[in-house]
Amino acid sequence: MKLRSVRGTHDLFGEDINKYNIINSVVSKNAKINSFKELQTPIIEFTDLFSKPLGEQSDVVLKEMYTFKDRNDDLLTLRPEYTTPMIRAAITNNLLNELPLKVYGIGPMFRRERPQKGRYRQFNQINFEIFGSNDYFSDLELICVANDILKSILPKNELILNINSLGSRANLSEYKTKLSKYFIDNKQKLSADSVNKIHLNPLRILDSKNENDICISKNAPMINEFINKDSKNHYEKIKDGLKFYNIKFIENLNLVRGLDYYCSTVFEFKTNQLGSQDTVLGGGRYDGLISILGGPDISGIGWAAGIERISMLMDVNETIDSSVHLAITDEKYKKHLMKAIKYLQENEISFYWNYKYNLKKSLSKANTNQTKFIIIIGEDEYNRDSYTVKLLSTGEQHELTLDRLKQFINDKS
Ligand code: HAM
Repeated sequence: MKLRSVRGTHDLFGEDINKYNIINSVVSKNAKINSFKELQTPIIEFTDLFSKPLGEQSDVVLKEMYTFKDRNDDLLTLRPEYTTPMIRAAITNNLLNELPLKVYGIGPMFRRERPQKGRYRQFNQINFEIFGSNDYFSDLELICVANDILKSILPKNELILNINSLGSRANLSEYKTKLSKYFIDNKQKLSADSVNKIHLNPLRILDSKNENDICISKNAPMINEFINKDSKNHYEKIKDGLKFYNIKFIENLNLVRGLDYYCSTVFEFKTNQLGSQDTVLGGGRYDGLISILGGPDISGIGWAAGIERISMLMDVNETIDSSVHLAITDEKYKKHLMKAIKYLQENEISFYWNYKYNLKKSLSKANTNQTKFIIIIGEDEYNRDSYTVKLLSTGEQHELTLDRLKQFINDKS
């Protein structure tokens, strides 16, 4: 049987791993500038951590979690998202003594979804969270960090920032009741999928992509009719701040987000280049969630972005791996080559040798790899205790002693 990877998973190599590493370094740089501390959590957690907070009736909990019994009958789950594990880690390790706590992390998440373009069963997320602040600036700061990261990774890409406010939990609960009633009254015209959601989570009908559902949703009650004065105020200040920072956005009253824990501010960066999986980054406020998980009654806000979706929008070639290629004409001179390798290692100059003794093949490999320098080791070099260094871009070539190699490479790089 042919070896294959598990459906919905993928290997990272070549161009994709280069993109992953670029994203990683942009994220760490921005996290540092904005004083977010790195927090890595385990991939397995107790299942209970996710069931209630994500919404016991949500798709993630009902259908998408990879859950299994451990040998001692503990029910464990591969983390489907990062927010709840981060809160768990903050509580477990007493990190909430000093607030606000600003944390970030990057790592794999697992959801048993139907795989398609931009949707995987194992995927990587970037995650930023702020615990313990309800200042509108924390919402703004997180959106700005997201915007800065996306802009530096995708400078040519027009991602559209969508924002909305869901009001307080009480507002949201009143709204859900009204919305369910409206959809019950219009049940005949809704898709079967949406009918199932009327009682479970009527909000999700609002972001259905089915034509009939969209048509019915147009006349549904709107969340902005339900949100209280404080939430409105908070939301207005965020919009003001976005204008102050010149960040373009659209207000999307149907933006509700897929997980149950949200209230107040919600936002998404969307693209029109990825088909139906068009959300690159999404997040919002989840006041109340930290106390549900056994922590203090403090607010929280954050976002996550899918690395695979960002990668699909990036335009990056495989980078050149090594700066020096070694070419040796005969095994007789191997010790002379080994001396050069030791020197390159000690001087932290990246090199490649294909373990072959064929000058022509080595030169052509160096050419395809676009290596900058080639060091040639043949009879003359061996006899004179020297090395011939060739600069591939110009063809110029010099015979040098080992101790002069570093200087030459630095000068010509
Ligand atoms: P989410 O909207 O479920 O939110 O996921 C955030 C991002 O992860 C999506 O916008 C997408 O880019 C990526 N993503 C999600 N599922 C998949 C998948 N199956 N394949 C590839 N990429 C995927 C959350 O996870 C929240 N925890 C975000 C958050 C953090 N809210 C507050 N703090």
